[in-house]
Amino acid sequence: MAQPPSAPVSQPHGLRGDYSRAAADYTVSQDWERYTPEDHAVWAALYRRQLELVSHYAAPEFLSGTRALGASAARIPRFEVVNEVLAGATGWRIVAVPGLIPDQAFFDHLAQRRFPVTVWIRRREELDYLVEPDVFHDFFGHVPLLTNPVFARFMQAYGQAGPKAMATAGGLRMLSRLYWYMVEFGLIRTTAGLRVYGAGILSSKGETVYSIEGAQPQRLRFELARVMRTDYRIDAFQRTYFVLESFDELFHACYGTDFAPLYLRYGSDEPLAADARLPTDEVLSADTQPR
Ligand SMILES: [Fe+2]
Repeated sequence: MAQPPSAPVSQPHGLRGDYSRAAADYTVSQDWERYTPEDHAVWAALYRRQLELVSHYAAPEFLSGTRALGASAARIPRFEVVNEVLAGATGWRIVAVPGLIPDQAFFDHLAQRRFPVTVWIRRREELDYLVEPDVFHDFFGHVPLLTNPVFARFMQAYGQAGPKAMATAGGLRMLSRLYWYMVEFGLIRTTAGLRVYGAGILSSKGETVYSIEGAQPQRLRFELARVMRTDYRIDAFQRTYFVLESFDELFHACYGTDFAPLYLRYGSDEPLAADARLPTDEVLSADTQPR
């Protein structure tokens, strides 16, 4: 459909940070027709570059999910088309939001198998770095694994854990660290060696390579309490990555687990430093052999 006359083609999608048209659950219409040729061109540049890169570094489940979604560099995807794929795969769907949304609304969406995807796309001068999520980060990074039944069930369990975390001292901070390390920055061991599945890594050109090949970061075996106690960096590449054996491991650590004893034990403590090393940590080398 042509660009509506009220929206000049030189302007990017107008919903960046505009919450005025959001519903009570913070969702908006994607208004796909409002994406400009430049919006699509920025998507194309990001998508082509990152798909090429992650084909060498991403977990096989992520790559098969990317293929299943049917998205391409040609255009920013239409959410309703993607939702047909997700419905058949795991019963999830994506909903459009204007940007970050409050914790309670976010947890509620996940618990209902809805993943909020930011509707607008960054400008060309922000190709390599953006402080907040946009449609490229949210879609390219997060949506492929929603086709994976085990990971999708973990994400629902994560959302269901939200209300108790919000009601417990220190709980929300601890639950947020689980999301940060195991959804945004997670690594997984595969028969081919360490691979990336975290959305924050896979939507970043620099961190995709650094997380697997970098000499500086430490890579530790996943352990639930260790993850939930560890501070993280928001302004630089991570100092520590946690490594799963399988998505089943993450699911079973969280599904049906009452986190309350962990909140009670650690919720009031100072977090472990982002680069802390404990005697109990199991350290994996960058060239970890296949299991
Ligand atoms: Fe994200």
